[in-house]
Amino acid sequence: MDYPLTQFSAEVTAAIAATGKVDPALIELTTPRANIPADLAFPAFKAAKALGVAPPQLAAELAAAIMPGGLIGAVEAAGPFLNFSMHPARSAAAVITAIHTLGPQYGHHGEGNGQRIVVDYSAPNIARRMHVGHIRSTIIGQAIVNIYRALGYQVIGDNHLGDWGTQFGTVISSIQRYGKPDAGGETAMEQLEAIYARYNNEMKAQAAAREQANAEGAAEPTFDPDLEAEARRWSLALEQGDPEARAIWQWCVDLTLTAAQRNYNRLGIRFDHAYGESFYEALLPGVITETLESGAAFRDADGSVVAELEKLPKFIIQRNDGGTVYMTRDIATVKFRLSEFDPTQIIYVVDGRQELHFRQLFAIMRAMNYAETVALVHIPFGIVTTPDGQPLSTRKGNMVYLESLLDEAVARARAVVERKSPELPEDEKTAVAEAVGVGAVVYNDLYQDPKRNITMDWERMLATDGNSATYLQYSHARCRSILRKAGEDGGVGQRMADPALLTHPAEQKLLKHLARLPDAVREAGERYAPFVIADWCYSSAREFGVFFEQCPVLKADTPDLRAARLALVEVTAQALANGLALLGITAPERM
Ligand code: ARG
Repeated sequence: MDYPLTQFSAEVTAAIAATGKVDPALIELTTPRANIPADLAFPAFKAAKALGVAPPQLAAELAAAIMPGGLIGAVEAAGPFLNFSMHPARSAAAVITAIHTLGPQYGHHGEGNGQRIVVDYSAPNIARRMHVGHIRSTIIGQAIVNIYRALGYQVIGDNHLGDWGTQFGTVISSIQRYGKPDAGGETAMEQLEAIYARYNNEMKAQAAAREQANAEGAAEPTFDPDLEAEARRWSLALEQGDPEARAIWQWCVDLTLTAAQRNYNRLGIRFDHAYGESFYEALLPGVITETLESGAAFRDADGSVVAELEKLPKFIIQRNDGGTVYMTRDIATVKFRLSEFDPTQIIYVVDGRQELHFRQLFAIMRAMNYAETVALVHIPFGIVTTPDGQPLSTRKGNMVYLESLLDEAVARARAVVERKSPELPEDEKTAVAEAVGVGAVVYNDLYQDPKRNITMDWERMLATDGNSATYLQYSHARCRSILRKAGEDGGVGQRMADPALLTHPAEQKLLKHLARLPDAVREAGERYAPFVIADWCYSSAREFGVFFEQCPVLKADTPDLRAARLALVEVTAQALANGLALLGITAPERM
């Protein structure tokens, strides 16, 4: 089924072509400026030039030749433009029918059918709490996954866990030295971070003592245990598959994933895979050989394997001690994903500070001829700051971690719910507070271009009347409450709604706006921009607010008008819930 706006634009194109006056190849339509009372325009310049006539003359001839019909309500020439307006009654019917028939599928497309896309997102590091960088990746990544699924693609979400690297020697060593954390969730991760830091400090103290002795010409002190040697030993043991090292590492992985899963559940995040960096370990020797043999990389004077491509700074693929790096595993990951999934795109949702890393990665994949059939895309995002613009940082002690962030959001949302809806039953209040709190955090990440920094400003995030998830959720709940009330008075569904009655300007504006969701979804995908959906949701809620203020629903002048308006309220709720779902935000029935 074609969406109403698609059908309208197809009818306009066909009507112009049917006049026989314009070469179909020259029919390009534009959206008129907001002050023009039309829905689609044909600028006649190119076609007029080809015919050797003045554009206003061609526009006038076409206007005379085209009869309104179907979704076309009026045709009018305005200087060099031919303006088309939708037929109010017929387009109202088309929009309401489309949303009503498709329900939760309204806004979805089939254009991606048969194509696969890999999205690499979240990717926290093992034995660490998820900080704002991973939070943003998780939320933006899931929205991208949802949007591409709605476009019909088969999307494979992969959580590329940071579970490998030399620092794990230190992690294992610190656990051996100070014992395993006894808590769960974020607290356990915090304890792991603490013993890691403590181990590092002691290790530095040993190094400093050694240096001082050297400077003084004294005998080098010996330590038992020598912490650095110990960490290196564990790192090597892990790499060589030593069972004890492996077991502790696995314990860390499980602990981290269990803690992360609690947050993922609250956020509605689901991955298809979480291979993680360690998964690629066995492939790395082959990858290094291949980078050299393909000529993409070379052996540097110090024995390391490096690449220097496309005027980008030189980067390491294998250290001169034989060790591999983050980049080596990312090269292996691309190769694996290509052979395993044959995707048309691999999308990385990763902190903007890794921009150079991805440019280098994509460059070496091109140099190795792997980027011919796949688009490699990095979606960078900005940092998170306090309301007065201070960046959050672990060093400054103002870092925000995911679990505590969600807990705080829900506690604050609870206060809003208590204030606004004291009559709700206890368990519903709990559920609504969870939806509102989590929604506020998610929306804060999605309502603007990901490249921009976001601020953690609770007032704005939980505002019931601004550009916030709370406001959108309220708008949806308000629609549902009207429908409930109508049901209680026995009104809804009893009378066939006639959309032709929806001729009030506020009704028409709302309808035309609802009609745009399918285009917004497509645009959000093309631009990797969930904020396009967020903008659509926000304007929908506002148009609904205007309609609600100007057009009484339950107290409409006639039962027929009431039925028609109820139908509009119902499709508004559905479309808004669909938009919010794409962002990963739930829409409670009552608030
Ligand atoms: N674990 C990494 C970090 O925390 C992010 C990984 C992103 N994905 C990738 N394929 N490199 O910085």
